[in-house]
Amino acid sequence: MDCAIRLSEFGGPDVLRVERSDPGDPGSNEVRLRQTAIGVNFIDVVQRRGVSPIALSLPSGIGGEAAGIIEAVGTAVRGFNVGDRVAYANVYGGAYASVRLVKPDALVPLPDDISDRQAAGMMLKGLTAWCLVRQVFDAKAGDVVLIHAAAGGVGSIVCQWLKHLGATVIGTVSSDEKAGLARSCGCDHVIVCTESDFVSQVMDITAGKKVSVVFDGVGRETFVRSLDCIRPRGLAVLFGQASGPVGPIDLGLLAAKGSLFATRPTLTAYTSTRSDLLNGARSLFKMVKNGCIRIPILQTYHLTDAAKAHRALEARRTVGCTILLP
Ligand SMILES: NC(=O)c1ccc[n+]([C@@H]2O[C@H](COP(=O)([O-])OP(=O)(O)OC[C@H]3O[C@@H](n4cnc5c(N)ncnc54)[C@H](OP(=O)(O)O)[C@@H]3O)[C@@H](O)[C@H]2O)c1
Repeated sequence: MDCAIRLSEFGGPDVLRVERSDPGDPGSNEVRLRQTAIGVNFIDVVQRRGVSPIALSLPSGIGGEAAGIIEAVGTAVRGFNVGDRVAYANVYGGAYASVRLVKPDALVPLPDDISDRQAAGMMLKGLTAWCLVRQVFDAKAGDVVLIHAAAGGVGSIVCQWLKHLGATVIGTVSSDEKAGLARSCGCDHVIVCTESDFVSQVMDITAGKKVSVVFDGVGRETFVRSLDCIRPRGLAVLFGQASGPVGPIDLGLLAAKGSLFATRPTLTAYTSTRSDLLNGARSLFKMVKNGCIRIPILQTYHLTDAAKAHRALEARRTVGCTILLP
């Protein structure tokens, strides 16, 4: 039986319901995708709670990332055929499903040497990593970088990419277990933020010189203190809010802390054209195929256990990437 995870109210993981699903035939500019692996992302938790800037309109499906095989193609679709292996990121409101209708402009063809599970684990998180270290900030040897939640989905990929580029990587995590994964992903220095203050640790590690850039996907609990870790004219990148929204900030803070730059990027804005999306995917696939980045899929759940996956992710019990299998 085909099924999808849907919600008719915002709230905790229990609002996620398993429902029978039959999306029907694709519209003229759609394909029907038989999904083989689905990515779980923190943005899904935020959307489920109903506080996302990308609000779902209820009742709704949930999830934005998956891989699969095309099983039907609309009459106006060009460039994709039945049987093609593809993946997508950033198509919210319905990825948690065994079969889904998707517009072809979101789809990326999968090379033979990228598995469906890898693709589901990395399309959204890995493209976000590409966006952070290659677009928002062009990381290179000599840069010293601070990344929060270094053992998370995005964090574990960002660390490996930065290491490959020759940067010095400082990562924060909340436990010793997570510290192990962060180190194995290329962190030169790991700060267990539940045991010590990350600002003073960064000052010690850098001998007071601070870092060139902070990648902060944690938000409320870290962002203002992240600014204290950045050297004059460095960059603060707020890319998520796992601990909650940061709220209004006085831009004068950027002057007071050393003429800092700050940005709040979204993957959507950095992959808004087809050529940007394919360029990012090519770059990511190349890193994975060359063995420079491995996608650490460390939690796998059945699709019908999506609520369990959400409980683990929001309780900070996950490391690396999480996928659902239909
Ligand atoms: N801007 C974009 O386009 C974009 C795209 C994708 C993802 N994101 C953002 O990137 C961030 C990472 O996403 P992800 O899917 O890879 O998640 P993740 O990093 O695997 O999970 C979130 C991590 O945040 C940390 N955290 C700190 N405070 C937390 C709290 N109060 N509750 C829950 N977690 C907390 C935890 O790591 P520790 O326990 O080690 O602290 C947790 O494991 C999220 O903020 C997400 O929204 C943004």
